[in-house]
Amino acid sequence: MNSRFIISLALFLFLNFLSNSSRTTEAAPTYLEHHCPNTTLVSPNSTYRFTLNALLSSLSSAAAGDADGFANATAGKDAPDRAYGLFLCRGDVGTATCSECVATGTKDILRWCPDKRSSVVWYDECILRYSDQTIYSVMETVPIYAMPDTGDVAEPDRFMQLLGEAMNYVAVRASGIESGKKFAVVEASFTSSQKLYTLAQCSSDLKGSDCNTCLRAVIANLPQRKRGGRSFTPTCTVRFELFPFYNTSAVEATPLLPSSPPAPVNGPKDGFTCAGKSNKSTTIIIAAAIPVGIAVILLFVACFWHRSKTTKTYEVVQAEGGTSELTTTESLLYHLATIQAATNNFSHQNKLGEGGFGAVFRGRLPNGQEIAVKKLSKSSGQGVGEFKNEVALVAKLQHQNLARLLGFCLEGEEKLLVYEFVPNKSLDYFLFDPDKRRQLDWSRRYKIISGIARGMLYLHEDSRFRIIHRDLKPSNILLDSDMNPKISDFGMARIFGADQTRAKTNHIVGTFGYLSPEYAMRGQISAKSDVYSFGVLTLEIICGKKNSCFFQSDGGENLASYAWKHWRAGTPLEVLDPFISNAYSIDEVVRCLHIGLLGVQEDPADRPTMASIVLMLTSHSVKLSQPRQPAFFLQRSTERQLKEPESDESTSRSMPWSNNEMSVTEVYPR
Ligand SMILES: *[C@@H]1O[C@H](CO)[C@@H](O)[C@H](O)[C@H]1NC(C)=O
Ligand SMILES: *[C@@H]1O[C@H](CO)[C@@H](O)[C@H](O)[C@H]1NC(C)=O
Ligand SMILES: *[C@@H]1O[C@H](CO)[C@@H](O)[C@H](O)[C@H]1NC(C)=O
Ligand SMILES: *[C@@H]1O[C@H](CO)[C@@H](O)[C@H](O)[C@H]1NC(C)=O
Repeated sequence: MNSRFIISLALFLFLNFLSNSSRTTEAAPTYLEHHCPNTTLVSPNSTYRFTLNALLSSLSSAAAGDADGFANATAGKDAPDRAYGLFLCRGDVGTATCSECVATGTKDILRWCPDKRSSVVWYDECILRYSDQTIYSVMETVPIYAMPDTGDVAEPDRFMQLLGEAMNYVAVRASGIESGKKFAVVEASFTSSQKLYTLAQCSSDLKGSDCNTCLRAVIANLPQRKRGGRSFTPTCTVRFELFPFYNTSAVEATPLLPSSPPAPVNGPKDGFTCAGKSNKSTTIIIAAAIPVGIAVILLFVACFWHRSKTTKTYEVVQAEGGTSELTTTESLLYHLATIQAATNNFSHQNKLGEGGFGAVFRGRLPNGQEIAVKKLSKSSGQGVGEFKNEVALVAKLQHQNLARLLGFCLEGEEKLLVYEFVPNKSLDYFLFDPDKRRQLDWSRRYKIISGIARGMLYLHEDSRFRIIHRDLKPSNILLDSDMNPKISDFGMARIFGADQTRAKTNHIVGTFGYLSPEYAMRGQISAKSDVYSFGVLTLEIICGKKNSCFFQSDGGENLASYAWKHWRAGTPLEVLDPFISNAYSIDEVVRCLHIGLLGVQEDPADRPTMASIVLMLTSHSVKLSQPRQPAFFLQRSTERQLKEPESDESTSRSMPWSNNEMSVTEVYPR
């Protein structure tokens, strides 16, 4: 009996020890850094020191309660004995871990900074701060720390490109959250077996715009070409790794659609290559990126299909009567055998490229007509009738600036779309190639911009069906033998069964960098989202720079903010691609830049319609309104104290070269 008691006791103690030790190891926060600026010292038994003790213990108990990872507190009556404090836990950690981290922090912070009037301590799981100044909703980009993970990454150029996109996206998502935790994670595929995990979080008390500014500063400060790393300030933090470092079951990650390749109806291309650089690993990139893109697209297609089946929100052909529909559909039908013969049985030599919806092959029909065949990924989930209807509808869209859909083939598992062949590859093939971009002189670029605008206007308003493109980008602009632009890949959402008419979607199609903020963040789709993409595209054509190439070297600046700065500074011609050597019309360049900036404005209501854009391009007497600051204007940390231009008054003075009042420096001291 005694021995049994002893064994039970031993077992009890052992289990107790186990559970205790596992609890403490699980909850012990990982210390990262602390900061206590050397100002006036605090003596150990001054009033401020007692205030601090009260402050820290109230933060500690707030963390143990239902604080949802963030709380602020104040203690003491008046300055200099008043203290302000707050803590912020990482978005994915639970209350227990958060509370443990804050409790440890309140002890450590006085050890690290025993006699300081303001301090910050960073852990992996939380941040704890106090100060004798107000810190609530005050954005800080100083001090800023960067911590690399050991190990260089393979394929650094491609990795940095992907990281740039993922970081942009995660920052957009985190700063777009209006109340509650400003926290987001984004996952992207780097290789078929390696995933890139990114996290961004701002202190919950920051305004969205401050959060964005703070995140841009830390993103620009991230270690380069490493397998992982983080950067943080007192008010925000970002981290990336090639392994999951947050609790993946506690948060819902947003997948990043790779900004790649092209859905070229013709021409292989290197979607990742930045202007002026050559990239040897293009094929690998495409190989790695495409399956993910397809998977993501298929997923949403499946969801939409499911929804349309269950809720019947899908509108089948709104126009034509039944009989004419039938004949049209018949005339659009190609036999599989014909297409197989035309494309040499989809031979590798005939392959033009891979798009988001499937591979594209070049072919020649028996009558000599050249075609481009898009082989749709098999499980598009669309019913046969619906598919035919939608193809018939999209085939009706005919305009000189649209790549024409000639017909389709539907046999067995095979779904093919047959397009006219456009010989000169796509815009990105020229625009982002150091040699070929010389062929695009200004008059060609102007013609391309105008042509795209007319094609988009047709899609939005002139055709009987309002088509929102959703994925307007240089690789979707084909060029014919006279370098006339032809927009491709329009109507794919219809053909794939996504509902064009809904205002809101949970599934984002499109390529990051060209997505409007309301679409990227809230899934709100409208013609104005296309106008945003058109704006980015226009800026790229003028500058000869790829929007997504800004991350690496420009301190978090993007193309829109670069163009905007020159616009505000009265130096619009400086953004013009230096490869444009021939004569150009200053008026046209400035006008196009102006239109581009109007297109990338944050508020969709401020963006012009495609109809106004076409008018602005054709009639030079049309007066253009002043653009507002572009969406996600990225201020560098050194400029953070500058005022943001909010009022109409300040923005209306923004065209210094056209009025003599050179007062811009008052608004934008630099
Ligand atoms: C820190 O502050 C004390 C007191 O003001 C001063 O004597 C000391 O030089 C400061 N140290 C640094 C590194 O600035
Ligand atoms: C401050 O604390 C020290 C010991 O910690 C004590 O000796 C001293 O009397 C205290 N001074 C005041 C003013 O309370
Ligand atoms: C947190 O800060 C806000 C803004 O300064 C203040 O109104 C509120 O009282 C603070 N909360 C606590 C618990 O001190
Ligand atoms: C991760 O989150 C889930 C859901 O909130 C939770 O049940 C689990 O304990 C967490 N895991 C860790 C290691 O914190």
